[in-house]
Amino acid sequence: MLHIGVLASGRGSNLQALMDGCAGGRIRARIVVVISNNSRSGALARASQAGVPGYHLSDHTHPAPGELDAAICHVLQEHACDLVALAGYMKQLGPATLGAFPGRVVNVHPALLPRHGGLGMYGIRVHEAVLAAKDAYSGATVHLVTGEYDQGPVLAQRRVPVLPDDTPETLAARVLAVEHELYVETVAAIARSEIALPIPS
Ligand code: GRF
Repeated sequence: MLHIGVLASGRGSNLQALMDGCAGGRIRARIVVVISNNSRSGALARASQAGVPGYHLSDHTHPAPGELDAAICHVLQEHACDLVALAGYMKQLGPATLGAFPGRVVNVHPALLPRHGGLGMYGIRVHEAVLAAKDAYSGATVHLVTGEYDQGPVLAQRRVPVLPDDTPETLAARVLAVEHELYVETVAAIARSEIALPIPS
């Protein structure tokens, strides 16, 4: 059984979708640990509610350079994680963690990468950018995480049409529902080895 560690900063609805997917049997895996940089995140509350160990690890708890990266890596290894899933995690993972889980860190992004990704492209800003660009479609992307924001290989994408009267908020809500579905399907496919994660050389 695949062991998944999840990192999340906020509300935690993608974490919830993954936990529900595991509990309901759609994903043959177990969420074994949740890490958040935000002690008051919905994600940590949801982990606690589900009986999953949760850790608050941040620049506040680990201020020295490299210390936070080492702590995150240690917690993931201590819980024997095979896969690391970012779910609305607002920080970049450090080299120790990425090096310990090569090709084994996935993320969900609320747009069709490579459009509307990169540094500073998160939350409502992504949907504002989609509307400003007058794109006909937005969507969700599940991709591998590398040292560069939102640039790792794409594992799965699903389109969401942009409607004429969309606001950033209405678009965000429709994309979020698709994120949940796509993330669960993709992680389930990884757990079944239908998606083989590449090991970078
Ligand atoms: C999602 O849109 C996710 O794609 C993005 O941040 C949002 C997090 O939502 N990276 P939640 O915390 O999973 O509810």
